[in-house]
Amino acid sequence: MSPASTAVTIRRPDDWHAHLRDGAVMAAVLPHTAAQFARAIVMPNLKPPVTTVALASAYRDRILAALPAGSDFRPLMTAYLTDSIDKAEIERGFADHVWVAAKLYPAGATTNSQHGVTDIRHIYPVLEVMQRIGMPLLVHGEVTDHTVDIFDREQVFIERILLPLLKDFPALKVVLEHITTAEAAEVVREGGPRLGATITPHHLMINRSSLFEGGIRPHLYCLPIAKRERHRLALRKAATSGAACYFLGTDTAPHLAHTKEAACGCAGIFNAPTAMQAYAQVFHEEAALDRLEAFASLNGPRFYGLPLNEGKIRLALAAAEAPQDVEIEGDRVVVFAPECGAAWTLSAA
Ligand code: NCD
Ligand code: ZN
Ligand code: ZN
Repeated sequence: MSPASTAVTIRRPDDWHAHLRDGAVMAAVLPHTAAQFARAIVMPNLKPPVTTVALASAYRDRILAALPAGSDFRPLMTAYLTDSIDKAEIERGFADHVWVAAKLYPAGATTNSQHGVTDIRHIYPVLEVMQRIGMPLLVHGEVTDHTVDIFDREQVFIERILLPLLKDFPALKVVLEHITTAEAAEVVREGGPRLGATITPHHLMINRSSLFEGGIRPHLYCLPIAKRERHRLALRKAATSGAACYFLGTDTAPHLAHTKEAACGCAGIFNAPTAMQAYAQVFHEEAALDRLEAFASLNGPRFYGLPLNEGKIRLALAAAEAPQDVEIEGDRVVVFAPECGAAWTLSAA
């Protein structure tokens, strides 16, 4: 395949960072993730958060029950770490194959993180266990100190929390989720193979100016917030490099439109219907379509120690209909639909 190809066939991909929510929202958004991906890491920031094996197992059952008929999509569950979470519970859920990883939300950092960790030292006993059993720690990497400028919170998290953590737990597997800075990409590359990062489609496509293009754009607001153009360019280099430490994680995060188009709009971009098309567009623009499979379908399972998917998908540059917003109970969730000269389409191969 030439790098300038306008079609590519790859092994079925996975999404290593997804918010599927629950109830009516889940029922409406889940078919989109299931149509794009074979598996997804399901983030545990529900209300209440997924902090026990029983809650995770029940949530998994609800997801499976809401799948479209015939779908073989598999949710990979995660535990929500709190200051007081029981390390035995974490170990039990992993041993019983209920969850595959645990998520660190610094308390107050993002959507539904109020039950998160207030001081990383509080979960050191849990991290000891996770290191011993090979269970990955997934990290929302932003400090919550509001005296730190919002555009610097990822970088300051890396300096203050991540680097000391990596030193204290030299064998712990860690994923720095939804990276947004050149510095994060560099730290992750240097920290492999036990350190990985997910990269979203939107952070490859928008920068912080995009949030204010012609007026404020609430549907482009997510956390960590998009950064300067130099960071977007560095993320594109990282994602398309083929390096094993970078893998696909959409951070698809649906919120009803009225909660985003508000005086205090919430953070999260819903990209499930357009994710693979958006990644294909980026890899095409970077003349790196031949490395899309590594990023989307190989690096993630290898990091998690899971088998590669069978089956293939095909992405092609073709005239496509603009994606529709998803209607939910009289409101809607707005789809991230990057304006592109031509659109990519996704089909089974
Ligand atoms: C996510 C959400 O809405 O759950 N929001 C976001 O802006 N990314 C939470 C998260 O991943 O931080
Ligand atoms: Zn996050
Ligand atoms: Zn997320």
